[in-house]
Amino acid sequence: MEPLLNVQKLTMDFGGIRAIDRLDVQVHAGQIVALIGPNGAGKTTFFNCITGIYKPTAGHILLQPPGKKQKRLNGLKPNKVTEQGLARTFQNIRLFPNMTVLENVMIGMHCRTNAKIFGAIFRNPQTRKEEQYIVDHSYSILKKVRLQTFANEYAKNLPYGAQRRLEIARALATDPFMLLLDEPAAGMNPQETLELDNLITQIRDEGLAILLIEHDMKLVMSISDYIFVVDYGKKIAEGTPEEIAQNPAVIKAYLGEDVEHA
Ligand SMILES: Nc1ncnc2c1ncn2[C@@H]1O[C@H](COP(=O)(O)OP(=O)(O)O)[C@@H](O)[C@H]1O
Ligand SMILES: [Mg+2]
Repeated sequence: MEPLLNVQKLTMDFGGIRAIDRLDVQVHAGQIVALIGPNGAGKTTFFNCITGIYKPTAGHILLQPPGKKQKRLNGLKPNKVTEQGLARTFQNIRLFPNMTVLENVMIGMHCRTNAKIFGAIFRNPQTRKEEQYIVDHSYSILKKVRLQTFANEYAKNLPYGAQRRLEIARALATDPFMLLLDEPAAGMNPQETLELDNLITQIRDEGLAILLIEHDMKLVMSISDYIFVVDYGKKIAEGTPEEIAQNPAVIKAYLGEDVEHA
């Protein structure tokens, strides 16, 4: 089957630095795929290329939205990438701190709703109906990430782990078929990480494909269907969690002795 995301020979140069070097990555429907590697390996840069923040130096980013024509994403602006059904979270949380939890999710829905400025000013019946839908749907997403009781709290007042879940909620609000998560477990305690494991698995089971950057090896090994390992912008291994855990190049470059305990 055609992969939903097929990245071929992706290369990203910053001046003289080659942050990504001819990287091939595929994500298939129904999969949780992990992208792992040491700090500075180029993982976030990879996400930034796919989601239109950077224009890659070379290579192809091919997206196959279900039921639609394949689309080349190279050079698309971030909002256009989101419209294609690809949503992401950020390693450094990007929420609107002085807006409520609910409002942060409602903003995520913006790219899928039609209410234009005029509707917002004159508040015609169609706009009101759409607003009600946005509120209801945002609540249902908050419920999924178990933040509904915080709906009217300012985002900045949430504990760190909850802010990370709110980022996922906002990404889900754009109605994606694929979700890119950049270190979602960073800063979470073991209990929060366990809940995150369940949430990501649930989202996958509901039909979304997931591409995950994560340092928590226990989480990666437990939820991933497939893993790509990068070092210095190059792919050094790919395979199932079992294959990756036994790969000598991976152990040497990245996992070290921890792999036995993962
Ligand atoms: N905007 C940028 N300008 C210059 N260098 C960058 C930029 N973004 C990332 N890099 C460099 O690219 C490399 C990979 O960084 P990054 O993708 O953040 O790694 P990772 O997410 O795997 O830790 C690093 O050497 C980093 O300094
Ligand atoms: Mg990073």
